[in-house]
Amino acid sequence: MIIVLFGKPGAGKGTQAPLLAAALGVPTLATGDELRAAIRAGTELGREAKGYMDRGDLVPDAVILGIIKQALSEPRHAKGVLLDGVVRTVPQAEGLSKACAELGRQVDAVLCFDIDDDEIVRRLASRTVCEKCQTPYTGREPGSLCDKCGGTLVRRKDDDPEAIRNRLEVYRKQTAPVLAWYRDAGTKVAVIDAVGDVADVTARALGALQ
Ligand code: AP5
Repeated sequence: MIIVLFGKPGAGKGTQAPLLAAALGVPTLATGDELRAAIRAGTELGREAKGYMDRGDLVPDAVILGIIKQALSEPRHAKGVLLDGVVRTVPQAEGLSKACAELGRQVDAVLCFDIDDDEIVRRLASRTVCEKCQTPYTGREPGSLCDKCGGTLVRRKDDDPEAIRNRLEVYRKQTAPVLAWYRDAGTKVAVIDAVGDVADVTARALGALQ
């Protein structure tokens, strides 16, 4: 089972991913989390990605496809994986499709979390994330501790107003066309209302997969 979690920055992909993963019994892969881990570790990948991420631009397709191919070949993803924010351009969708085909697999569904820009700006303006496990929080001060792992909560550099504006523009220009690509390819695309209680959004997403 390969499910693509899709949507604007701040739509709630990272909040929903572990809840859906627990319900479906498959792990998650988030390219944003992988890249931030590489930045913290000071690797070459992290050094290459940092400038793009801080500005809210997309990291080049070749870098992302490298992460995708590596992840798909790992035994822990053999039964399935939820791809959180992993596919953001048509070339990435094409590359993922090719990599899946080589392994006799396919993307089973795309869940697009739908939300308007004003709500995104409200959410991201008050978001902090755990620097260790990446769990997002709303309305918790930087420096507080994560409920899940005790890590320190920090603001993300790409949650400043200018970077948010750029991320929304990048989404419109480069990422939104991916949905039409999946529809044309015959992949199930479900649009999920991402506003409301977190548990209600999870229930809508699980309902759409049935
Ligand atoms: P990434 O980390 O994936 O960021 P993003 O897609 O911009 O998404 P976010 O993490 O900001 O938001 P989210 O949808 O996960 O929402 P969340 O659950 O946190 O990527 C960062 C960067 O990495 C990219 O900009 C790019 O540079 C690079 N990158 C990554 N993947 C790439 C790729 N494939 N190609 C190229 N570049 C790539 O929720 C947001 C807030 O809302 C939180 O505070 C949360 O608590 C709150 N919230 C969640 N649900 C609800 C709800 N139902 N009601 C109220 N509040 C809610």
